[in-house]
Amino acid sequence: MSQRVKIKALLQSQQTEIDVTVKGWVRTFRNNQFIALNDGSTNNNIQVVVDFENTDAALLKRITTGAAISVTGKLVASLGKGQTVEIKATEIEILGDSDPEKYPLQPKKHSLEFLREIAHLRFRTNTFGAIFRVRNSLAFAVHQFFQERGFVYLHTPVITASDAEGAGETFHVTNFDLDNIPKTDTGEIDFKQDFFGRPTNLTVSGQLEGELGAMALSDVYTFGPTFRAENSNTTRHLAEFWMIEPEVAFNDLADNMDLAEDMLKYVIRYALDKNADDIEFLTQRLQEEEKQKPQNERSEMTLLEKLQFCLNNDFERLTYTEAIDILKESTPNKKKKFQYPVEGWGTDLQSEHERYLVEKHFKKPVILTDYPKEIKAFYMRQNDDGKTVGAMDILFPGIGEIIGGSQREERLDKLEQRMDEMGIPKDELWWYLDTRRFGGCPHSGFGLGFERLVLFVTGMGNIRDVIPFPRFPKNAEF
Ligand code: 4AD
Ligand code: MG
Repeated sequence: MSQRVKIKALLQSQQTEIDVTVKGWVRTFRNNQFIALNDGSTNNNIQVVVDFENTDAALLKRITTGAAISVTGKLVASLGKGQTVEIKATEIEILGDSDPEKYPLQPKKHSLEFLREIAHLRFRTNTFGAIFRVRNSLAFAVHQFFQERGFVYLHTPVITASDAEGAGETFHVTNFDLDNIPKTDTGEIDFKQDFFGRPTNLTVSGQLEGELGAMALSDVYTFGPTFRAENSNTTRHLAEFWMIEPEVAFNDLADNMDLAEDMLKYVIRYALDKNADDIEFLTQRLQEEEKQKPQNERSEMTLLEKLQFCLNNDFERLTYTEAIDILKESTPNKKKKFQYPVEGWGTDLQSEHERYLVEKHFKKPVILTDYPKEIKAFYMRQNDDGKTVGAMDILFPGIGEIIGGSQREERLDKLEQRMDEMGIPKDELWWYLDTRRFGGCPHSGFGLGFERLVLFVTGMGNIRDVIPFPRFPKNAEF
């Protein structure tokens, strides 16, 4: 048996007149003669030419869209248009039939909505093939970036007893029989009898545990799934998403911003190099989509230009207070004011405000810092003005917030005071406070929403299309 060769490698082969074996899924079969075969290594199919006169008719019938086949034959220069090489098949084996009457993926363009309903099969389309190869490269690049800089990859727990963001958006974890939940004498749920002997939930962020690691290993990062039971019925939210959270001892907010900007540029550049053909495909795809829109709503830049622009420009850095001043003076366009008027200092920015700053005002990625402490988490370092904290949010065109981070409050008294003010239980977080008791030091970190990064790099419009199996309200089918 000859070795299976990936189609991507074959299409780039300088050699012809060699015997090869490929395995993949039939995209189309034309005139009983030409198979377009794909194995997911690239969006380009290899053409297999079938000697139909000398092939069993029963076998020919089984070469249908979606079937898995193995082909052995000679790689030859192709005379046909659109490909340089093709395979003259000498042997075809059906590995898995696919009933063409029932196969949901027809060789035509399907809507993304429809493909979401068949998420178990959508990997087989060009669009999703490209998206998930880009996603893979971005994940690899994240590790490479941190590993090159001597960071330690820290695995933080998925099941925790804390709510790092203090936003109360957690999913409970229990092994109770839901039809028979033990109660105490006073009628409350008796968590002592639960698996962990206390209430637990899925993690919303690995930050708090990451900070513990940084207080010994100096430079750490996590990269794992996080879960939020918030309203995720938007094109930017998922109930289960992957987050990358570096945490660095001795870094201040400016170091934190530099690290985040370097990382984003590094991973985007990596994907552009590694997945040039996929990004080219996605750029074309988006151009087609743009053509459906009225002229004045079309994007000024192609996807490729957008990515390059992001690499070649410094991100704009300004404070929340400066941003509010800009927004108060702005009217997004002549007819329409902001749906949520900018009330003034102290209110949280809506995504329309963030997008205005990035897409209309600065026209580039923006880092906003020093938010009012009231709208940020308890662990952020308080500034000397008594009103703001050393927070930073990175806003991207078409996405809005892609990173949230901060310098952490390392001063025990300030941290405890803030926790009291915000009603965060100090006794439950005794281990977190211990780091401030024993050798605490200035440190900073941030969280990058991995799917939002994939959204940006692929140019897709809905976060549900950049994770293989999206979790959102009323959806956990696959
Ligand atoms: O701003 P967030 O809530 O920050 C934290 O969780 C910090 N503990 C991170 C840290 O400092 N270590 O979330 C970080 C990022 C957001 O900027 C966004 O990109 C993404 O996570 N994110 C989501 N992505 C998809 N679906 C959701 N529901 C998300 N919520 C946050
Ligand atoms: Mg945030």
